[in-house]
Amino acid sequence: MKKGVGFMAEKDYSKYFRPNLKNARRRGQEESRVLHEEFVIPESMKNAGAGKTYYIKTYGCQANERDGETMAGILEQMKYQPTEDMYSADVVLLNTCAVRENAELKVFGKIGDLKRIKQQRPDMIFGVCGCMAQEEAIVNRILEKHHQTDLIFGTHNVHRLPQLLEEAMYSKAQVVEVWSKEGDVIENIPSNRASNLKAWVNIMYGCDHFCTYCIVPYTRGKERSRLPEDIKAEVQDLIDQGYKEITLLGQNVNSYGLDLDNGYDFAKLLNEVAQMDVKRIRFTTSNPWDFKEEVFEMIAKYDNLMPYIHLPLQSGNNDVLRRMARRNTAESYIELVDKIRKHIPNCAISTDIIVGFPNETREQFEDTLKMVDYVHYDNAYTFIYSPREGTPAAKMEDTIPFEEKQRRLQELNEHVNKWDLINNKKYEGKIVPVLIEGYSKKNKDLLMGYTDTQKLVNVKGDPKYIGEIVDVLITEAKTWSLDGEIHE
Ligand code: 5AD
Ligand code: SF4
Repeated sequence: MKKGVGFMAEKDYSKYFRPNLKNARRRGQEESRVLHEEFVIPESMKNAGAGKTYYIKTYGCQANERDGETMAGILEQMKYQPTEDMYSADVVLLNTCAVRENAELKVFGKIGDLKRIKQQRPDMIFGVCGCMAQEEAIVNRILEKHHQTDLIFGTHNVHRLPQLLEEAMYSKAQVVEVWSKEGDVIENIPSNRASNLKAWVNIMYGCDHFCTYCIVPYTRGKERSRLPEDIKAEVQDLIDQGYKEITLLGQNVNSYGLDLDNGYDFAKLLNEVAQMDVKRIRFTTSNPWDFKEEVFEMIAKYDNLMPYIHLPLQSGNNDVLRRMARRNTAESYIELVDKIRKHIPNCAISTDIIVGFPNETREQFEDTLKMVDYVHYDNAYTFIYSPREGTPAAKMEDTIPFEEKQRRLQELNEHVNKWDLINNKKYEGKIVPVLIEGYSKKNKDLLMGYTDTQKLVNVKGDPKYIGEIVDVLITEAKTWSLDGEIHE
């Protein structure tokens, strides 16, 4: 039987219940608030998870991973226990990514699997959340075709999970709560972190840049910074718990503080966090157009700020960059890379690149290859352009065949891989600090960890070093990893 669609009616948020791309594009008419209220689970849900399990599958970026940790924390406060087995879990949440079509296809595959599970165990609760839940067309498709879905909630609704779960449990209808509002900053939500060594700390949410290919500003709302005192309190708490590495997260950390009016910018925040007693600090992502020199001065100054910068290129051609609405040119990007190298000679640089943007010519693509050969990145995440409904680029004319885009991706990857290996080879024979995280996934006789420059190392050595930063002699370099042994 087809379920009806039920909406939460506690407050009058009716215009926000369903995603709306036009609302999502609006900026500035609503004040974002920082909310410090105590997080309270309703009495009726405090024991809802006793004897029950949950399974969360997260797709996409670190912001989503961090949201997944928050949902896990909330569920555990309701006494749910984690399970690795989706097929037996009482609550299954797909925490989705909307950035490219193939991420969405994977999710629809999983939604299909859930149909069988739901038929066998009708009392289990199945929810879809994350960035896809912010997309109108996706929500409509799920409501029309995938009635096994009990609950859909958006990226601004995570803190309402207890109420939404309760509604889904007792309602015969599919429950949808997706606020297309610009977003608040909500503090004090519980979380259950995936690691006890490395932690992500959000410093800001959302994005105001509206690069023409990107769905993120629509799905994650407007840029809003957390207060520095809240960020530092979270970092201190992590230090007290023994965390060794902290990654400060934002879609563009260079915009940190612009909305705060308290004199803070990203460099000032870094300066203060670096003086805290944390061994390793990283940050991501920083865009090339508003990267302040003070930031690399900080990296050069503080040993605990890791010499690694993720600097998305997207394209090496000025016309394509302009049509992407990126605010930098190829020349200004090169200037920035040169400055980074001058201030921090050992700095690793990684990037994101899109090939096959609408009507990208062969010559324009070759400018990207030239840039890769100039910067010789330590690592590059490369993608074929994927049209996202509702974004300006999706309406641009595109006569480039998909097969040509695939060939370009392959050619680009050959350049990227060549530099990966050349850069890694420079490590052979060197002794470098590695945070040993645990056993290697591929070979349980080895340990694994990362260098300060974010290179994966498979390490021969005593497991007693797990959780410590130790000197490792690099014995062999491969394209995507290094081999080494602990140097005692
Ligand atoms: N198609 C392909 N890649 C995209 N990215 C963002 N949107 C798209 C899209 N529509 C890539 C960008 C970004 C990274 C996180 O994902 O390279 O930096
Ligand atoms: Fe997307 Fe551009 Fe914002 Fe990055 S800066 S999240 S690519 S719109």
